[in-house]
Amino acid sequence: MDHTLLLLHSLFRYFVMALLIIVIVRSFTGWQSKREFNGSDNKFSLFLLITTHIQFLLGLVLYFVSPIVIKSGASMKDPIARYWFVEHITIMLIAIVLITVARSTSKRLTDSTAKHKRLFVLNTIALVVIIAAIAMMKDRGFFTLAS
Ligand code: HEM
Ligand code: HEM
Repeated sequence: MDHTLLLLHSLFRYFVMALLIIVIVRSFTGWQSKREFNGSDNKFSLFLLITTHIQFLLGLVLYFVSPIVIKSGASMKDPIARYWFVEHITIMLIAIVLITVARSTSKRLTDSTAKHKRLFVLNTIALVVIIAAIAMMKDRGFFTLAS
């Protein structure tokens, strides 16, 4: 298997997390102080979306080439195999959908406070979901690279 993909996927989690936290902090303060939704708010939310989509694409390729993803019913009985076969992809996909919906629906809102609030609420739920998935990974003692 090409380890570059795994390395990139491992690296991109930090970009996703950092941008997610930046967008959450900016949207929370913007919402609370009723600050106007400006060009930087828009750029950070766009960078977050692009980084997340790249992470998704990398993950999707890994899902089909990685030897630890054993696509068989027998995987359901083993906590580690089940994690990679169904849990990681399902939970992360939920987070990615939340981040995408946060961006695409907030773009259509016109009121600045409403935009900030939408970004804050959906991205915060996405962050909690990602932390839960990473915690499950750690719980099962399964980290290969960069951990
Ligand atoms: C924001 C979303 C995501 C984050 C933060 C994330 C994070 C991670 C992390 C930390 C690892 C462990 C890397 C290592 O062992 O060093 C990993 C592995 C993996 N991820 Fe993701 N992931 C995300 C989305 C996805 C998605 C959507 C898929 C599938 C479509 C996916 C498929 C995989 C696979 C197959 C592996 C195991 C690769 C291997 O060890 O061979 N990931 N991910
Ligand atoms: C299979 C992989 C991908 C899927 C299924 C996907 C899906 C989507 C969806 C559903 C949207 C939201 C459209 C809307 O606003 O209603 C979107 C937007 C977008 N995606 Fe992806 N995407 C993927 C990969 C990528 C990659 C690899 C990149 C970047 C290199 C990317 C960059 C973007 C950008 C820039 C937008 C629009 C951002 C905006 O102006 O709001 N996507 N994508």
